[in-house]
Amino acid sequence: MAEAVSTARAVPDPWSIPLDRIDVSRSELFQTDSHWEYFRRLRQEDPIHYCPNSMFGPYWSITKFRDIMDIDGNHQDFSSEPGITLADRPEDFQTTNFISMDPPKHDVQRKTVQGVVAPVNLAKLEATIRERAARILDGLPVGEEFDWVERVSVELTTQMLATIFDFPFEERRKLTYWSDMATSGELAGGPTPEPVRRAALLECLEYFTRLRDERVNEAPKSDLLSMLAHGKDTRDMPPMEFLGNLILLIVGGNDTTRNSISGGVFALNQNPGEYAKLRNDTTLIPNMVPEIIRWQTPLAYMRRTANRDVEIGGKTIHKGDKVAMWYVSGNRDDEVIEDPDRFWIDRPNARHHLSFGFGVHRCMGNRLAEMQLRVLWEEIMKRFSFIEITGPVERVQSSFVKGYASMPVRVHHQ
Ligand code: HEM
Repeated sequence: MAEAVSTARAVPDPWSIPLDRIDVSRSELFQTDSHWEYFRRLRQEDPIHYCPNSMFGPYWSITKFRDIMDIDGNHQDFSSEPGITLADRPEDFQTTNFISMDPPKHDVQRKTVQGVVAPVNLAKLEATIRERAARILDGLPVGEEFDWVERVSVELTTQMLATIFDFPFEERRKLTYWSDMATSGELAGGPTPEPVRRAALLECLEYFTRLRDERVNEAPKSDLLSMLAHGKDTRDMPPMEFLGNLILLIVGGNDTTRNSISGGVFALNQNPGEYAKLRNDTTLIPNMVPEIIRWQTPLAYMRRTANRDVEIGGKTIHKGDKVAMWYVSGNRDDEVIEDPDRFWIDRPNARHHLSFGFGVHRCMGNRLAEMQLRVLWEEIMKRFSFIEITGPVERVQSSFVKGYASMPVRVHHQ
């Protein structure tokens, strides 16, 4: 079974480092899977924690479940503007979108696109997703080692995105590329140089503008782009806002689902008893899915900015301060979640987690993501008795997107 990638770069001991030197926004903590004990310490000793110095400037860390819910649910005091990552967007390249807006503008724009994930549309999508998942799984080289991330997680989520945008299918990998570019910028602690990132996003804008112009002249359809093109509140969006919303929908539906797919395989390999339980009873899949999403927490945090001085847990967060709500930590808070470090596929109340956030910004695609994962696991269990991780996994270098860059596996038939 695979171990996490080795901790090549030494990280300071989480229990002896002075509290004010703890900076959980460092991407290497996530890349080396060494963040857990830092968060455990913060939950125990300083749940509302101030970090005076980081590559993103000073910021607060909120690490307990209930405090996160309070802040996420309070958009009056904690704004999503100017953005939801600790990295500030460059002044000269502002791609705004509704995840970075407060009501009422947020509500208007969200309403325009949320029809695409309405239950009736999800029901229509399910058969297509099942068929595409089946085709991908049937094409896997049984008995040979391959990268699960590339061949399944990325491919399936990309096909999904192409479906919900009605994007040219043979060009779908462009969506993956743009999503990767959007989240891997050096300003956010990732490896991609800023000029490369901008060029990719402008290419994305140009491509989608062309598609939108075509859709405007066609009758309205149920894909996202058509909805954006025809919606009365979205059709005249300025280009950078249009780009911002595209990126939101591409990233929202890409990295997150991708890493839940890989995370499920990883969790089951680490917990053979749970894998055995699943083999014996595949009706556990609908409950296992939210447990995977909790356990993985594909987005480690969301940022807010204080609109006024607010006192919380005996500390004063000042107007203008950055606040990170660490879902990855709240999901391991034993005051709310029983035995939180345990991966437990028949966990009672498994949907009670923070991975989709809370409040007006609660993930718009949460039911779509759950449906995709359920369908995928149903199809996997029809075919393979074991997806075996055969070597070290490589993790993404980011404190925002929590996921896997590669995962060597071998699949075994029944
Ligand atoms: C397991 C998969 C997913 C996870 C963990 C996830 C997580 C999140 C989180 C944490 C937020 C912000 C919540 C907050 O601030 O309170 C969010 C918002 C959002 N997500 Fe997801 N997401 C997932 C899948 C998807 C999919 C498949 C879509 C595609 C439609 C999507 C679209 C969005 C959008 C549009 C928003 C912005 C909502 C708003 O600001 O009102 N997500 N997601």
